[in-house]
Amino acid sequence: MGRVVPMHTVPRLSLANGVKMEQLGYGVYKVPPAETAGLVTLAIESGYRSIDTAALYANESGVGEAVRNAVAGDGLSREDLFITSKVWNDHHGYDQTLRAFDTSMSELGLEYIDLMLIHWPCPAKDLFVETYRALEAIYHEGRVRAIGVSNFEPEHLEKLLAETDVPPAVNQVELHPLNQQTRLQDFHAKHGIRTEAWSPLGRGSLLQEPVFLELAKEYGKSAAQVILRWHVQMGNIVIPKASSAGRIRENINVFDFILDDAAIERIAALERGKRYGSHPNEVN
Ligand SMILES: NC(=O)c1ccc[n+]([C@@H]2O[C@H](COP(=O)([O-])OP(=O)(O)OC[C@H]3O[C@@H](n4cnc5c(N)ncnc54)[C@H](OP(=O)(O)O)[C@@H]3O)[C@@H](O)[C@H]2O)c1
Repeated sequence: MGRVVPMHTVPRLSLANGVKMEQLGYGVYKVPPAETAGLVTLAIESGYRSIDTAALYANESGVGEAVRNAVAGDGLSREDLFITSKVWNDHHGYDQTLRAFDTSMSELGLEYIDLMLIHWPCPAKDLFVETYRALEAIYHEGRVRAIGVSNFEPEHLEKLLAETDVPPAVNQVELHPLNQQTRLQDFHAKHGIRTEAWSPLGRGSLLQEPVFLELAKEYGKSAAQVILRWHVQMGNIVIPKASSAGRIRENINVFDFILDDAAIERIAALERGKRYGSHPNEVN
């Protein structure tokens, strides 16, 4: 492990239970398992402290390896890092979720996970309440510091809030300038749920959008940095994925400029409900 960049630029947000989470992290969807430890190490060296993985990504073990190496090396403790994983759709149900959590723990090789999410609500299965109750049990045992959900629509959250005890700390959803999720954001704000944006760069396809190329020129930043800065100013937690050292470093370097109101208005006008991924009601 090389030099560890001190963690002073990325704001840490309080989740509903008081646990702090970095506002910008590194997402590892589609990072090949064999490359994961190396890229996560690079991300940590570049200043990232929060890493987003999932059982589905089949790279939890690489994430855990990088975390253990960072902690064994210079200057970081386990508490400095924030690891998110997710229960996959095939493991909905109380007992299945307990087992899935154990599997994630053993893949990661860590003593606790910071945040565990239900990956998709899978409404046709109608098991997300039982799934969440298992996460609550794990939370009460202290093996996870916070629990939450992903891809939940307001109706799924309503049911969860009515039938369970620990409010979800986070809802991780597809969110970018072409799909700003304002209805969901309003719901989250009312219930103290943090909004976390997946595919924050629209899987990279937003980077050629003329508005971002123009703003990039105006601010002397890249289009990716303008989009990530927009997320930060919107209050989103954001987890861009990148697979080169240059892009990994570029994406965290968004805390030294501020988009003005005119820029924010131009980006607000891009809303068109566009999804690059599936609608939550279609996934089971
Ligand atoms: N909960 C869910 O259901 C869910 C679903 C999807 C994703 N996620 C999470 O969200 C994370 C991010 O989403 P995502 O991976 O779908 O999409 P994304 O972060 O919006 O975009 C990633 C793409 O943009 C490119 N890119 C990144 N930074 C760049 C830069 N500075 N300049 C040029 N290109 C750049 C990457 O290229 P290279 O890789 O070639 O560098 C990659 O192709 C995932 O890794 C995962 O952790 C969660």
